[in-house]
Amino acid sequence: TPADGTDLRTPIVAVLGHVDHGKTTLLDHVRGSAVTADEAGAITQHIGATHVPLDVISEMAGGLVDPTDFDLPGLLFIDTPGHHSFSTLRSRGGALADIAILVVDVTDGFQPQTEEAIDILARTETPFVVAANKVDAVGGWRSEPNAPIQGRLDAQTDRVRSDVEEGLYEIIGDLSDAGFTADFYWRVSDFKANVGVVPCSAETGEGMPDLLAVLMGLSQRYLREAMAVDTTGPAAGTVLEVTDQQGFGTTLDAVIYDGRIDAGDRIVVGAANAPIVTEVRALLKPRPLAEIRSDDAFETVDRVVAADGVKIAAPELDDAMAGAPIRVVGDRSVEAVTAEVREELQSV
Ligand code: GTP
Ligand code: MG
Repeated sequence: TPADGTDLRTPIVAVLGHVDHGKTTLLDHVRGSAVTADEAGAITQHIGATHVPLDVISEMAGGLVDPTDFDLPGLLFIDTPGHHSFSTLRSRGGALADIAILVVDVTDGFQPQTEEAIDILARTETPFVVAANKVDAVGGWRSEPNAPIQGRLDAQTDRVRSDVEEGLYEIIGDLSDAGFTADFYWRVSDFKANVGVVPCSAETGEGMPDLLAVLMGLSQRYLREAMAVDTTGPAAGTVLEVTDQQGFGTTLDAVIYDGRIDAGDRIVVGAANAPIVTEVRALLKPRPLAEIRSDDAFETVDRVVAADGVKIAAPELDDAMAGAPIRVVGDRSVEAVTAEVREELQSV
């Protein structure tokens, strides 16, 4: 922790990509649960946040992430839908992200929402890595669960390896057409200038240690300074979704990216008409490694510190809008904070 009163917050990692390319499966692997199975038709229609602490990342990454090399607290993953009709949710995820994973099915290559995701990442200047997913779906692939990918590529027959590489080079070519120099991640030394491609399988876990190591390394090297926030200051966040929660009425699924929010805090929330001024009745947190939207997995907490996902219960939230800013008023005047929220809402 830096000595100047600030803390290092968790980087926000958006997972973007075409429908069915494996975003939710990849996050399922990371959180060791099975959200995909719960979703109707397995098509993601929400955006959800999952906080994964550094020690869990390190454990999953085996020897590839030594926790003593990092002082960032972990990664906060945000799943997004790939279906073409959810482009606002993708933009919102992209806008919130400090860094992103672009998931591309190696057997299917670039598709319309892959292109769309790249446009969002370029527009928001979000650094990203490519998860070239589903290597195990290439005919003849031999799996070894959760193993680092280079050894697995070496262990395949020449034919299988060349089939996988064909898909990978196609992705690298399409990235180049989109204006990004890309290469296999182990050949990339400057991740600011080049996009690293991580062959992987969300199903078998192969390449997942590599993906986590690249994300942690990138975050630590390029995002650390930006992650220094005053976690005692009034929170700033974004509404992901406005949802009904039994026993709490209308609630906000939110990501807090700065400061802190306490139960009882006065908040201003962007809304369709005038911003809402209200008071936090309860802060609901998913239990560790659970998904923010699964109904049974909440506990009430007194405080949430950036960066984290939280469900906010408060009166008067019916007009709140997904994508809108949330601000804790703190010592400031309600008028000043309301003006800030109004201004930000106009820029969205
Ligand atoms: P949307 O949220 O609808 O955009 O899809 P998604 O990108 O989240 O895809 P999802 O994780 O739901 O996976 C789609 C299908 O691909 C599921 O049947 C998964 O089991 C399968 N799948 C995902 N990753 C892999 C993988 O690495 N290998 C194989 N063989 N199948 C995979
Ligand atoms: Mg999904």
